[in-house]
Amino acid sequence: MGKKMKKIAVMTSGGDAPGMNAAIRAVVRACAYYEIECVGIYRGYQGLIEGDFEQLTARNVSNIISRGGTILKTARSKEFMTKEGRAKAYNNLKNEGIDGIVLIGGDGTFTGGMVFNEEYNFPSIGVPGTIDNDIFGTNYTIGYDTALNTVVEAIDKIRDTASSHNRLFFVEVMGRDAGFIALNAGVGAGAEEILIPEEDMGLDRLLESLQRTKRSGKSSSIVVVTEGDKIGKNVFELADYVEKNLKQYEVRVSVLGHMQRGGSPSCFDRVLASRLGVRAVELLLDGKSNLMVGLINGKVETTDLEKAVKGNHEINKELIRVSDIMAI
Ligand code: F6P
Repeated sequence: MGKKMKKIAVMTSGGDAPGMNAAIRAVVRACAYYEIECVGIYRGYQGLIEGDFEQLTARNVSNIISRGGTILKTARSKEFMTKEGRAKAYNNLKNEGIDGIVLIGGDGTFTGGMVFNEEYNFPSIGVPGTIDNDIFGTNYTIGYDTALNTVVEAIDKIRDTASSHNRLFFVEVMGRDAGFIALNAGVGAGAEEILIPEEDMGLDRLLESLQRTKRSGKSSSIVVVTEGDKIGKNVFELADYVEKNLKQYEVRVSVLGHMQRGGSPSCFDRVLASRLGVRAVELLLDGKSNLMVGLINGKVETTDLEKAVKGNHEINKELIRVSDIMAI
């Protein structure tokens, strides 16, 4: 291990994700294990700028492994995007005697971390926590597995009513720029079509596919639509368009929204969060910085924070093929 750190801070930033609490717990307990102090920063970068800090001990994080959300709260800070904001943040870290920081969050969090590191060279390690799974350098982000299970459970319920009324449902799921949730939950819930930002299937092909589905004798249809898909219409416009052009369908829309971000984390997310949180502390103690920890082929690996932000985590194209075959 390199230069001994005495105090490490931890914060959550950006959209919350189930398992963030498990990650906080892992960081706090790893600090206790290695006999160093741990400070929790409330409300992400905003709390960092405002000095909203609290000392955390191993007992402060009892019984949070099963809780959704984040006990440290979170925010999307505009002030941290300014030089003045980052200068305040740096001064607060120095005044508090903090030697390194663990950033739990997604793309925006790591972009902030990268810029901060360029300016102040402050030891920081990223832990990927977002339901979107859109981070390069890890096969899974914390919260993604739980969100998938939440979405599948919701679609199963929608299927019951869709099938009773012989209806077509458009179900919108989260994912501003990425279709991981839509694609995996769509296959898991047996959706007839899945619209993702990474592949624009076009309106004509969608109509053809829905016509085929109707002819095949199915009693209900589910189309999973990613929030950020590129078909050119929002989910309500899309539903109107289909209803106008395919008179044989009665169409309804269900937007799952923020319920996808809540709930008790799955076992997978708890274990992932524990492994990544511990490694993040160990990396800081080892003198490492500007890295993100992630899970690659079952192993905890590191990626440069810049690569994690700029690299592209590609969707699994095989799933698109499987989905097409299953929708017959
Ligand atoms: O990044 C996670 C995410 O849940 C996205 O899927 C979604 O587009 C966005 O956050 C919503 O953000 P907010 O809660 O700020 O509206």
